[in-house]
Amino acid sequence: MSTTLQELVARPLASERSAVLLRSVAAAVHAMHRQGRAHRHLAPRRIHLDGDDLVELEGADEGADWFAVHRPDELAYAAPELLQPTLHAPDHRADLYSLGALLYELLTGAPPFTAVDLLGWTHAHVAQAPRAPLELRAGVPAPLSDIALKLLAKAADERYQSAAGLIADLDRWLAAAARGDGEQRFALGLRDVPEQLRISQRLYGRDAELQALEAARERVAQRGAPELALVRGPSGIGKSALVHGLERRQTGQAASTSPASSTSTTATSRTPLWSRRSASSRARCWRPARSTSRPGASACRASSATSASSSSTSSRRWSW
Ligand SMILES: Nc1ncnc2c1ncn2[C@@H]1O[C@H](COP(=O)(O)OP(=O)(O)OP(=O)(O)O)[C@@H](O)[C@H]1O
Ligand SMILES: [Mg+2]
Repeated sequence: MSTTLQELVARPLASERSAVLLRSVAAAVHAMHRQGRAHRHLAPRRIHLDGDDLVELEGADEGADWFAVHRPDELAYAAPELLQPTLHAPDHRADLYSLGALLYELLTGAPPFTAVDLLGWTHAHVAQAPRAPLELRAGVPAPLSDIALKLLAKAADERYQSAAGLIADLDRWLAAAARGDGEQRFALGLRDVPEQLRISQRLYGRDAELQALEAARERVAQRGAPELALVRGPSGIGKSALVHGLERRQTGQAASTSPASSTSTTATSRTPLWSRRSASSRARCWRPARSTSRPGASACRASSATSASSSSTSSRRWSW
């Protein structure tokens, strides 16, 4: 008899069963990806099972605008880039994130985050770090907890790159668990070979510039006085890439190849007040998150708006 995964995740499942169920879903997702399709709407209610075998993945993406067709029950499983497409263009790796949220729920009995509206879900997926499943429920094997967290990486580049790589690690863990070695951690993703050529979104060689911009943000956070940062340079030098890298650091995603810089991103307590963009310019202004009523916040908006609009009329002075 066919059931949905929704009926199974109401309470935490045994680790082996969780791995087997996720493997079934991952195999179907892998088949879709091999056809050049992505699902993008994975949620327990849409996963039909016969025992532990997958029967059907319902509601796959047919190229429609995700925001127009998404349903509330999938928000707990939606990748950061679906909720905030400015992070980077969503691709098949959004499904890998959803598989991470599903594994998390299978292991712990609840998805990684809770929220009540679209804004809350966006904040959770983009900026909040999930707690490790093994911290939430005694008995969750460390390797499965690690696999869930790898799938839930904010940056798609940090996740498994293919469902096949995930399946290989699940198989490896299931074999180890059958031998009684289920707690033994192992290096993840050793058989995770990207199936398509993909240009990495990592930022290379811009640590000094990132640090300068972060230092400006830090000064604003500490003193509360507004500052305006402008990035200029010839077309193609990497101005937009630098700003997107900074945004990823703000949301806890890796921005550069330097291990120090990619792990020191704890700035989620500060949010950009606004950003303004024209064809050739963009200005950005920060304020401390807890000082929304400070006089400095409105001063920041006023001074930045002036600069941004003046820059759009003198694009040779600075561009973005
Ligand atoms: N430091 C870098 N690391 C990785 N990729 C980079 C870097 N700098 C630039 N790139 C890549 O080079 C390309 C051009 O960069 P980008 O679009 O940021 O330039 P730009 O200065 O904003 O250009 P424009 O003034 O035309 O808007 C992009 O594909 C970007 O990802
Ligand atoms: Mg640009």
